Amino acid sequence: MNRKLFIQATGYLVIVFFITSLLISCGKEEKKTEVKDKKQTADTSGRGSVTATGNSAAGKELFYMKSDVNNIACADCHSDGSNSANPMTKYFSNIQGANKRTSTYHGKFTGEEVVKNAGGATICWEFYERKKTPLTEDQIKALNDYYASVAAANSPVEIKYETIALPTRDKTKLKEVQKSVMELKGDAVKGETTFTNACGTCHGENSIVKKVPSILEDFEGNVKSITYNVRLGDGPMPFFHNPALTDQDIADISAFIMKKSGK
Ligand code: HEC
Ligand code: HEC
Repeated sequence: MNRKLFIQATGYLVIVFFITSLLISCGKEEKKTEVKDKKQTADTSGRGSVTATGNSAAGKELFYMKSDVNNIACADCHSDGSNSANPMTKYFSNIQGANKRTSTYHGKFTGEEVVKNAGGATICWEFYERKKTPLTEDQIKALNDYYASVAAANSPVEIKYETIALPTRDKTKLKEVQKSVMELKGDAVKGETTFTNACGTCHGENSIVKKVPSILEDFEGNVKSITYNVRLGDGPMPFFHNPALTDQDIADISAFIMKKSGK
């Protein structure tokens, strides 16, 4: 075979190989672009183009980092799809793909504000992790990249729930809720299980969180004050929305707390 023919033949072979692999990978290719798109949207904040993977790694670290003030992490409250064994994650929003939501934090953040606040993490950081200095732009970007990197095909577009804690704490409505909870008969046995799952990480005998009052001994409060804290939250104490906890759940938890504290 002369040199010219050889080059031609190799050329054909290369083309045939190329076309075949193109056909085979067609299906895969579509999926790849989808993932790429997701990653790119996390970069729309215009704060420079750092690679998505690099930033999502930093975001993941932040998501699992225990606060140096009270020892709680984002991952103690929120699910990223892989930590659902954590009992509290079913009471708060899932963060998969949160950077792409049209509205977060019960409408507190919409449009551009969603990405600018890492979906609302700026509030959680200050109130629930009790951090004194705000999240930096780099940290916010890293969190957005992390939300994008763990996004799934069925990630919620917007998380919907009822609450009287947002947009402002509605104390008039609270009175109605308190009345409704007090009219229900609480089941202390069910209440213990719900308490362990929803409150135990902070208030339980095996609490991992610092600076939390004990409410299982010498508790001065009552059903009314428990309902107040659960529905409206109180500084570092997060509010629980409906239906994460129903009024009946609050009645059950209250029956358990009252029994434990000897009332
Ligand atoms: C003590 C529990 C707690 C911790 C810790 C916490 N959050 Fe939140 N987070 C909440 C509550 C309460 C809300 C509002 C109610 C809801 O969305 O479930 C919320 C809302 C959010 C939302 C809005 C979700 C949506 O679509 O509406 C995002 C995003 C979020 N948190 C991210 C974070 C990140 C990131 C961290 C860590 C820096 C963090 N949170 C730490 C309790 C917590
Ligand atoms: C993320 C940790 C955390 C979780 C989860 C949590 N709490 Fe709290 N709770 C706190 C903190 C911190 C305080 C103190 C608030 C303050 O400093 O004003 C508190 C205060 C309270 C109080 C008032 C205590 C008093 O002595 O007056 C009650 C009642 C209460 N929580 C009930 C609950 C119940 C019921 C649940 C579960 C449905 C729950 N909490 C879940 C952290 C938490």
